[in-house]
Amino acid sequence: MTKYSNILFTFVLILFNSNCQAQNNVYNATANKELNNRFVMLLETPIDSVGFPRSMSVKTGVIKKVPSKDWTSGFYVGNLWQLYTLTNDSKYKESAEKWIPFLEIEKFNGGTHDMGFKIYCSFGKGYEINHSEEYKKVIIKSANTLCTRFNKKIGSIKSWDNRDKWDFPVIIDNMMNLELLFETSKLTGDDSYRKIAIQHANTTLKNHFRKDNSCYHVVGYDTITGKVKSKNTHQGYSDDSSWARGQSWAVYGFTMSYRYTKDKAYLKQAEATAQFFINHKNMPEDGIPYWDFNAPTIPNTTRDASAAAIMASALLELYGFTKKLDYLNYSNKVIRSLSSDKYVLNESVSGPFILDRTTGDWSKKAELDEPIIYADYYFLESIIRKQSL
Ligand code: GLY
Repeated sequence: MTKYSNILFTFVLILFNSNCQAQNNVYNATANKELNNRFVMLLETPIDSVGFPRSMSVKTGVIKKVPSKDWTSGFYVGNLWQLYTLTNDSKYKESAEKWIPFLEIEKFNGGTHDMGFKIYCSFGKGYEINHSEEYKKVIIKSANTLCTRFNKKIGSIKSWDNRDKWDFPVIIDNMMNLELLFETSKLTGDDSYRKIAIQHANTTLKNHFRKDNSCYHVVGYDTITGKVKSKNTHQGYSDDSSWARGQSWAVYGFTMSYRYTKDKAYLKQAEATAQFFINHKNMPEDGIPYWDFNAPTIPNTTRDASAAAIMASALLELYGFTKKLDYLNYSNKVIRSLSSDKYVLNESVSGPFILDRTTGDWSKKAELDEPIIYADYYFLESIIRKQSL
């Protein structure tokens, strides 16, 4: 071989190898029989204007359904949209279109910060697919309603009303609502939504994180001075512990905020908290964390499949920005683990859920080690994100 044909041969070999690798990395959800059986079960729930599937007890078979005002109401419709994206089967789209009108009323609900979860995960996902003017109007109205909860003095959107313990609580989960605001600025050309989102993210960045880059769940503010009054937990083990899902909301929220702003401080925090999470000494081998990294009974306590799914989806986006393999490897591991018998809900259980083993609220002993709808939502999103890498 001449020097040039040698170089050409090496180049073709590299191309061939990287192509094989890319193909091996494409996760084919629709080839997994167990998962497919579960997907189809989402179509079997009769339309209910006041009952959106939220979770279920595997032992009793009882499905917990919630009204549209519940923070989880948008995920079921979001799952139908995502299954349509994944499978191209129009039955999922038709079902999403039938359920979605019963969520629309939430665009007027200014009594909670959960607008992003309820409206962006449903109407937002739908809008990405159909670009419907009607959906767009719902998204804009919802963003207007969410902005009524913004306090200029504090620089944050208030999470909950009427809590004895806090005047103005802000929970880390609230970062997830910012996507609705960033997108509304894009849809309308009006920067005011984006400005509120940025102020909220900056205030959270300043006050929610600890030196080790884990985050508090709830920060309470003083409405007169605008200053921090308390740092607590609500669903975690203790005020100073690291509630697993909270860490995932933080990484997802700051990665998404970086997508819209390119603010390096957001990227830095997302990476630091991601490193805290994926390298934690209490992280099990399969990548699915316990519900709190400081739960005293580890390993004899429940996992939180949702925390892993949210983080997997976030880290696929973070990998896109940084090209750091740690993030891709963690997401791949989680998608593999969650697609296995250990986490996919057994086919003998009928209900509109895909995954088992999420911990909802340990402090209230509610929804422990159960199928919960938001784990499915972020799991499906991870698969879609992985396929489009
Ligand atoms: N937003 C409430 C939770 O993550 O459980």
